[in-house]
Amino acid sequence: MSSKGNELNHLAIIMDGNGRWAKKRHKPRFIGHREGMDNVERITLAADKLGIKVLTLYAFSTENWARPKEEVAYLMNLPVRFFDKYMPTLMENNVKVNIMGYLDELPEKTYRIVQRAMSETANNTGLILNFAFNYGSRREITSAMRELGGMIEAGLLTSEKITEEMISNHLMTSNFGPYRDPDLLIRTSGEQRISNFLLWQLAYSELAFSDKNWPDFDKNDLTKFVEDYKHRNRRFGKVDESDS
Ligand code: IPE
Ligand code: IPE
Ligand code: MG
Repeated sequence: MSSKGNELNHLAIIMDGNGRWAKKRHKPRFIGHREGMDNVERITLAADKLGIKVLTLYAFSTENWARPKEEVAYLMNLPVRFFDKYMPTLMENNVKVNIMGYLDELPEKTYRIVQRAMSETANNTGLILNFAFNYGSRREITSAMRELGGMIEAGLLTSEKITEEMISNHLMTSNFGPYRDPDLLIRTSGEQRISNFLLWQLAYSELAFSDKNWPDFDKNDLTKFVEDYKHRNRRFGKVDESDS
């Protein structure tokens, strides 16, 4: 470990607690989601300044469809609001947008805006802002298994040739190459669970939890978590160098 500490290339955040943020203020849940959306922009710019290369944000899970239909409709419209409002700032900051999830199940308008955000920022070379939207990790792994199964059926692969690398390459994070697994996962709102997020990719990620609800999680909080991460001892199953 260098004196500067661990490198933080890929940060993943489970942005939780929008509903509770609103409830505390006697406001409807959607107000919390609107505040949460503005915080995405603030944290994106802060992450970029901290030198992070990939920022993955969990914005809508495959299980979130089970919420009341008005809330689902509001959440489905958030990408439209977000990119309408922040696209110029994202362009100015050279941010490249990626959306991972089952996009063909999104309402038409949402689908179009996320595709446009990806294509308009495709040539940007700065921070990759990766939204997990209609994303679920078990489903992602299931899809990967089906793809590999299909290759076997087509005679392109045999089961004993399946490697960990191949499985990683069939997940939605594959295009991030060496940065496809998060170095650090932060979850806000005090909950300490994964909620079907990046199960494979988090195998050796450092985990951190904040009691703040997502709209209150600010750049000072982010900086503190990043500093703490840098001084953690990541062993990856090996013996600590100073002990050997
Ligand atoms: C996170 O906030 C946003 C989404 C899951 C879409 P929540 O809406 O889960 O807020 P809480 O957990 O109910 O407070
Ligand atoms: C996880 O939060 C999903 C997102 C942040 C998008 P949830 O609020 O849906 O998770 P649970 O239900 O508390 O596990
Ligand atoms: Mg929640």
